[in-house]
Amino acid sequence: MSSADHADISPARVFGEAAELYDAARPGYADALVAEVLAYARLGDRPALEVGAGTGKATVPFAAQGIPLVCVEPDPRMAEVLRRNTERYPGVRVEVGGFEEWQPGSRRFGLLFAATCWHWLDRARRWDLAHTVLDPGGSLALFWNPHSVLDTGLHAGLAEIDRRHGIEDSPHSEPSSAYGDRPGDWGDDFDWPETECRRDGRFTDLRSFRFRQEVRYGTERYLSHLASVSTYRVLPDDRREQALADTARLLDAHGGGIDMLHVSDLFLARAG
Ligand SMILES: C[S@@+](CC[C@H](N)C(=O)[O-])C[C@H]1O[C@@H](n2cnc3c(N)ncnc32)[C@H](O)[C@@H]1O
Repeated sequence: MSSADHADISPARVFGEAAELYDAARPGYADALVAEVLAYARLGDRPALEVGAGTGKATVPFAAQGIPLVCVEPDPRMAEVLRRNTERYPGVRVEVGGFEEWQPGSRRFGLLFAATCWHWLDRARRWDLAHTVLDPGGSLALFWNPHSVLDTGLHAGLAEIDRRHGIEDSPHSEPSSAYGDRPGDWGDDFDWPETECRRDGRFTDLRSFRFRQEVRYGTERYLSHLASVSTYRVLPDDRREQALADTARLLDAHGGGIDMLHVSDLFLARAG
Protein backbone atom coordinates (compact mmCIF):
# COMPACT_ATOMS: atom_id res chain seq x y z
CA MET A 1 0.00 0.00 0.00
CA SER A 2 1.25 3.43 -0.81
CA SER A 3 1.95 5.21 2.45
CA ALA A 4 0.21 8.23 0.90
CA ASP A 5 -2.76 6.82 2.81
CA HIS A 6 -0.86 6.00 5.96
CA ALA A 7 1.33 8.84 7.10
CA ASP A 8 2.24 8.90 10.80
CA ILE A 9 -0.54 11.33 11.67
CA SER A 10 -4.08 11.19 12.94
CA PRO A 11 -6.41 9.83 10.25
CA ALA A 12 -9.26 11.85 11.67
CA ARG A 13 -7.39 15.07 11.02
CA VAL A 14 -6.05 14.12 7.61
CA PHE A 15 -9.23 12.70 6.10
CA GLY A 16 -11.80 14.78 7.92
CA GLU A 17 -10.53 18.18 6.89
CA ALA A 18 -10.83 17.13 3.26
CA ALA A 19 -14.03 15.08 3.46
CA GLU A 20 -15.83 16.79 0.58
CA LEU A 21 -12.71 16.77 -1.59
CA TYR A 22 -12.12 13.12 -0.75
CA ASP A 23 -15.67 12.27 -1.72
CA ALA A 24 -15.56 14.14 -5.01
CA ALA A 25 -12.15 12.96 -6.12
CA ARG A 26 -11.47 9.45 -4.87
CA PRO A 27 -12.30 6.54 -7.12
CA GLY A 28 -14.72 3.82 -6.06
CA TYR A 29 -14.33 0.05 -6.23
CA ALA A 30 -14.91 -2.32 -9.13
CA ASP A 31 -18.50 -3.65 -9.38
CA ALA A 32 -17.03 -7.10 -9.91
CA LEU A 33 -15.37 -6.87 -6.50
CA VAL A 34 -18.67 -6.13 -4.75
CA ALA A 35 -20.29 -9.06 -6.59
CA GLU A 36 -17.43 -11.37 -5.57
CA VAL A 37 -17.76 -10.38 -1.90
CA LEU A 38 -21.52 -10.94 -1.89
CA ALA A 39 -21.28 -14.29 -3.65
CA TYR A 40 -18.72 -15.41 -1.07
CA ALA A 41 -20.63 -14.08 1.95
CA ARG A 42 -24.09 -15.53 1.07
CA LEU A 43 -25.55 -13.08 3.60
CA GLY A 44 -29.24 -13.89 3.36
CA ASP A 45 -30.88 -11.37 5.64
CA ARG A 46 -27.92 -11.05 8.01
CA PRO A 47 -26.51 -7.53 8.43
CA ALA A 48 -23.02 -6.42 7.41
CA LEU A 49 -20.54 -4.21 9.23
CA GLU A 50 -18.29 -1.75 7.42
CA VAL A 51 -15.20 -0.50 9.24
CA GLY A 52 -13.73 2.87 8.23
CA ALA A 53 -16.53 3.69 5.79
CA GLY A 54 -15.22 7.19 5.06
CA THR A 55 -17.66 9.03 2.83
CA GLY A 56 -19.21 5.80 1.55
CA LYS A 57 -17.22 4.93 -1.58
CA ALA A 58 -17.69 1.23 -0.79
CA THR A 59 -20.83 1.60 1.34
CA VAL A 60 -23.10 2.75 -1.46
CA PRO A 61 -22.69 -0.26 -3.80
CA PHE A 62 -23.35 -2.64 -0.88
CA ALA A 63 -26.29 -0.59 0.41
CA ALA A 64 -27.75 -0.49 -3.10
CA GLN A 65 -28.13 -4.29 -2.87
CA GLY A 66 -30.52 -3.76 0.07
CA ILE A 67 -28.07 -5.08 2.65
CA PRO A 68 -28.63 -3.84 6.22
CA LEU A 69 -25.37 -2.14 7.14
CA VAL A 70 -23.73 -0.69 10.23
CA CYS A 71 -20.90 1.68 9.28
CA VAL A 72 -18.23 2.60 11.80
CA GLU A 73 -16.30 5.76 10.96
CA PRO A 74 -14.21 7.75 13.46
CA ASP A 75 -14.22 11.10 11.73
CA PRO A 76 -17.43 13.12 12.23
CA ARG A 77 -16.87 15.10 9.02
CA MET A 78 -16.45 11.96 6.92
CA ALA A 79 -19.48 10.50 8.74
CA GLU A 80 -21.56 13.52 7.82
CA VAL A 81 -20.83 13.05 4.10
CA LEU A 82 -21.44 9.31 4.54
CA ARG A 83 -24.89 10.00 6.03
CA ARG A 84 -25.71 12.25 3.09
CA ASN A 85 -24.51 9.68 0.55
CA THR A 86 -26.54 6.89 2.13
CA GLU A 87 -29.72 8.75 3.14
CA ARG A 88 -31.75 6.99 0.46
CA TYR A 89 -30.88 3.59 2.02
CA PRO A 90 -32.88 3.17 5.24
CA GLY A 91 -30.96 0.01 6.17
CA VAL A 92 -27.70 1.96 6.68
CA ARG A 93 -26.76 3.06 10.19
CA VAL A 94 -23.70 5.25 10.76
CA GLU A 95 -21.89 5.05 14.12
CA VAL A 96 -19.07 7.51 14.80
CA GLY A 97 -15.98 6.03 16.45
CA GLY A 98 -12.83 4.02 15.87
CA PHE A 99 -13.26 0.28 15.45
CA GLU A 100 -11.03 -0.39 18.47
CA GLU A 101 -13.34 1.62 20.78
CA TRP A 102 -16.63 0.80 19.10
CA GLN A 103 -19.17 -1.15 21.20
CA PRO A 104 -21.09 -3.77 19.18
CA GLY A 105 -23.03 -4.93 22.24
CA SER A 106 -24.67 -8.23 21.39
CA ARG A 107 -24.73 -7.52 17.63
CA ARG A 108 -23.05 -10.02 15.32
CA PHE A 109 -22.61 -9.74 11.53
CA GLY A 110 -22.55 -12.04 8.52
CA LEU A 111 -19.92 -9.88 6.81
CA LEU A 112 -17.31 -7.36 7.90
CA PHE A 113 -15.76 -5.32 5.11
CA ALA A 114 -13.08 -2.66 5.21
CA ALA A 115 -12.18 -0.63 2.11
CA THR A 116 -8.69 0.94 2.16
CA CYS A 117 -8.87 0.89 5.93
CA TRP A 118 -7.52 -2.35 7.44
CA HIS A 119 -3.96 -0.92 7.48
CA TRP A 120 -5.18 1.94 9.74
CA LEU A 121 -6.41 -0.45 12.43
CA ASP A 122 -4.44 -1.61 15.47
CA ARG A 123 -2.33 -4.50 14.18
CA ALA A 124 -2.30 -6.25 17.54
CA ARG A 125 -6.10 -6.27 17.91
CA ARG A 126 -7.74 -6.14 14.49
CA TRP A 127 -8.05 -9.90 13.86
CA ASP A 128 -9.49 -10.49 17.29
CA LEU A 129 -11.96 -7.60 16.99
CA ALA A 130 -13.09 -8.82 13.56
CA HIS A 131 -13.49 -12.42 14.71
CA THR A 132 -15.52 -11.31 17.74
CA VAL A 133 -18.15 -9.38 15.77
CA LEU A 134 -18.64 -12.02 13.06
CA ASP A 135 -21.22 -14.79 13.24
CA PRO A 136 -19.66 -18.25 13.07
CA GLY A 137 -18.97 -18.68 9.35
CA GLY A 138 -19.26 -14.91 8.82
CA SER A 139 -17.06 -13.38 6.13
CA LEU A 140 -14.25 -10.90 6.26
CA ALA A 141 -13.58 -8.83 3.10
CA LEU A 142 -10.59 -6.48 3.00
CA PHE A 143 -9.87 -4.49 -0.12
CA TRP A 144 -7.84 -1.64 -1.54
CA ASN A 145 -7.80 0.21 -4.84
CA PRO A 146 -4.31 1.58 -5.50
CA HIS A 147 -3.46 3.14 -8.83
CA SER A 148 -0.37 3.56 -10.95
CA VAL A 149 0.68 5.49 -14.04
CA LEU A 150 0.46 3.73 -17.39
CA ASP A 151 2.81 6.10 -19.32
CA THR A 152 6.39 5.63 -18.08
CA GLY A 153 7.56 8.99 -19.55
CA LEU A 154 4.85 10.86 -17.67
CA HIS A 155 5.64 8.86 -14.54
CA ALA A 156 9.29 10.01 -14.72
CA GLY A 157 8.24 13.67 -15.11
CA LEU A 158 5.90 13.45 -12.12
CA ALA A 159 8.59 11.76 -10.04
CA GLU A 160 10.92 14.67 -10.78
CA ILE A 161 8.29 17.21 -9.61
CA ASP A 162 7.67 15.19 -6.43
CA ARG A 163 11.41 15.02 -5.69
CA ARG A 164 11.68 18.80 -6.07
CA HIS A 165 8.83 19.37 -3.62
CA GLY A 166 9.89 16.70 -1.13
CA ILE A 167 6.83 14.54 -1.80
CA GLU A 168 7.82 10.98 -1.01
CA ASP A 169 4.61 9.24 -1.83
CA SER A 170 1.63 9.93 -4.04
CA PRO A 171 -0.95 8.09 -6.18
CA HIS A 172 1.46 8.41 -9.12
CA SER A 173 4.50 7.09 -7.21
CA GLU A 174 4.47 3.83 -9.11
CA PRO A 175 4.52 3.13 -12.83
CA SER A 176 2.10 0.31 -13.71
CA SER A 177 5.10 -1.72 -14.84
CA ALA A 178 6.17 -1.96 -11.16
CA TYR A 179 3.01 -3.86 -10.18
CA GLY A 180 3.35 -7.58 -9.85
CA ASP A 181 0.60 -10.06 -10.71
CA ARG A 182 -0.45 -10.95 -7.19
CA PRO A 183 -3.02 -9.06 -5.07
CA GLY A 184 -1.19 -6.65 -2.76
CA ASP A 185 1.88 -6.51 -5.00
CA TRP A 186 1.93 -2.79 -5.77
CA GLY A 187 5.66 -2.39 -6.16
CA ASP A 188 6.27 -1.57 -2.50
CA ASP A 189 6.33 -3.52 0.73
CA PHE A 190 2.63 -3.62 1.59
CA ASP A 191 1.71 -6.57 3.82
CA TRP A 192 -1.09 -8.48 2.12
CA PRO A 193 -3.36 -9.65 4.99
CA GLU A 194 -3.14 -13.34 4.14
CA THR A 195 0.03 -13.96 6.17
CA GLU A 196 -1.36 -12.39 9.35
CA CYS A 197 -4.69 -14.12 8.83
CA ARG A 198 -3.03 -17.54 8.58
CA ARG A 199 -1.03 -16.73 11.68
CA ASP A 200 -4.23 -15.82 13.56
CA GLY A 201 -5.49 -19.29 12.71
CA ARG A 202 -9.23 -18.73 13.32
CA PHE A 203 -10.26 -18.02 9.72
CA THR A 204 -10.71 -20.50 6.89
CA ASP A 205 -11.32 -20.48 3.12
CA LEU A 206 -8.78 -17.68 2.46
CA ARG A 207 -9.00 -16.22 -1.06
CA SER A 208 -7.36 -13.32 -2.92
CA PHE A 209 -8.48 -11.59 -6.12
CA ARG A 210 -7.39 -8.76 -8.39
CA PHE A 211 -9.71 -6.66 -10.60
CA ARG A 212 -8.16 -4.27 -13.17
CA GLN A 213 -9.52 -1.09 -14.71
CA GLU A 214 -7.86 1.63 -16.79
CA VAL A 215 -9.10 5.13 -15.94
CA ARG A 216 -8.35 8.50 -17.53
CA TYR A 217 -8.30 11.57 -15.26
CA GLY A 218 -8.44 15.06 -16.77
CA THR A 219 -5.94 17.47 -15.18
CA GLU A 220 -8.50 19.16 -12.93
CA ARG A 221 -9.99 15.94 -11.60
CA TYR A 222 -6.54 14.49 -10.95
CA LEU A 223 -5.48 17.59 -9.01
CA SER A 224 -8.58 17.33 -6.81
CA HIS A 225 -7.69 13.71 -6.22
CA LEU A 226 -4.13 14.65 -5.17
CA ALA A 227 -5.41 17.38 -2.88
CA SER A 228 -7.48 14.75 -1.00
CA VAL A 229 -4.48 12.50 -0.33
CA SER A 230 -2.78 12.73 3.08
CA THR A 231 0.75 13.30 1.67
CA TYR A 232 -0.49 16.53 0.08
CA ARG A 233 -2.84 17.45 2.94
CA VAL A 234 0.05 17.64 5.39
CA LEU A 235 2.19 19.99 3.22
CA PRO A 236 2.23 23.71 4.08
CA ASP A 237 -0.33 25.47 1.85
CA ASP A 238 2.21 27.28 -0.35
CA ARG A 239 4.23 24.12 -1.00
CA ARG A 240 1.09 22.14 -1.80
CA GLU A 241 -0.10 24.79 -4.24
CA GLN A 242 3.29 24.93 -5.96
CA ALA A 243 3.50 21.14 -6.28
CA LEU A 244 -0.04 20.98 -7.68
CA ALA A 245 0.65 23.84 -10.14
CA ASP A 246 3.80 22.10 -11.46
CA THR A 247 1.89 18.83 -11.76
CA ALA A 248 -0.93 20.56 -13.66
CA ARG A 249 1.54 22.09 -16.12
CA LEU A 250 3.09 18.69 -16.84
CA LEU A 251 -0.29 16.97 -17.31
CA ASP A 252 -1.49 19.75 -19.61
CA ALA A 253 1.66 19.27 -21.68
CA HIS A 254 0.84 15.53 -21.84
CA GLY A 255 -2.56 15.91 -23.49
CA GLY A 256 -4.47 17.34 -20.52
CA GLY A 257 -4.64 14.35 -18.21
CA ILE A 258 -3.24 11.09 -16.94
CA ASP A 259 -4.08 7.47 -17.75
CA MET A 260 -3.97 5.28 -14.69
CA LEU A 261 -4.30 1.62 -13.92
CA HIS A 262 -6.64 1.01 -10.99
CA VAL A 263 -6.49 -2.35 -9.39
CA SER A 264 -9.03 -3.45 -6.81
CA ASP A 265 -7.35 -6.13 -4.71
CA LEU A 266 -9.56 -8.22 -2.45
CA PHE A 267 -8.88 -10.57 0.44
CA LEU A 268 -11.62 -12.88 1.74
CA ALA A 269 -11.73 -15.17 4.74
CA ARG A 270 -14.38 -16.92 6.83
CA ALA A 271 -14.57 -16.87 10.62
CA GLY A 272 -14.28 -20.40 11.97
C1 LIG B 1 -8.46 5.80 3.04
S1 LIG B 1 -9.93 6.11 3.94
C2 LIG B 1 -11.05 4.94 3.21
C3 LIG B 1 -12.47 5.37 3.33
C4 LIG B 1 -13.46 4.52 2.57
N1 LIG B 1 -13.55 3.19 3.13
C5 LIG B 1 -13.08 4.45 1.10
O1 LIG B 1 -12.74 3.38 0.62
O2 LIG B 1 -13.15 5.50 0.44
C6 LIG B 1 -9.59 5.37 5.50
C7 LIG B 1 -10.76 5.52 6.47
O3 LIG B 1 -10.48 4.76 7.63
C8 LIG B 1 -10.93 5.50 8.73
N2 LIG B 1 -10.22 5.01 9.92
C9 LIG B 1 -8.97 5.31 10.31
N3 LIG B 1 -8.68 4.71 11.47
C10 LIG B 1 -9.77 3.99 11.81
C11 LIG B 1 -10.11 3.17 12.94
N4 LIG B 1 -9.26 2.95 13.92
N5 LIG B 1 -11.34 2.59 12.97
C12 LIG B 1 -12.22 2.78 11.95
N6 LIG B 1 -11.95 3.56 10.88
C13 LIG B 1 -10.75 4.16 10.81
C14 LIG B 1 -10.62 6.95 8.36
O4 LIG B 1 -11.33 7.89 9.14
C15 LIG B 1 -11.01 6.96 6.90
O5 LIG B 1 -12.37 7.27 6.72
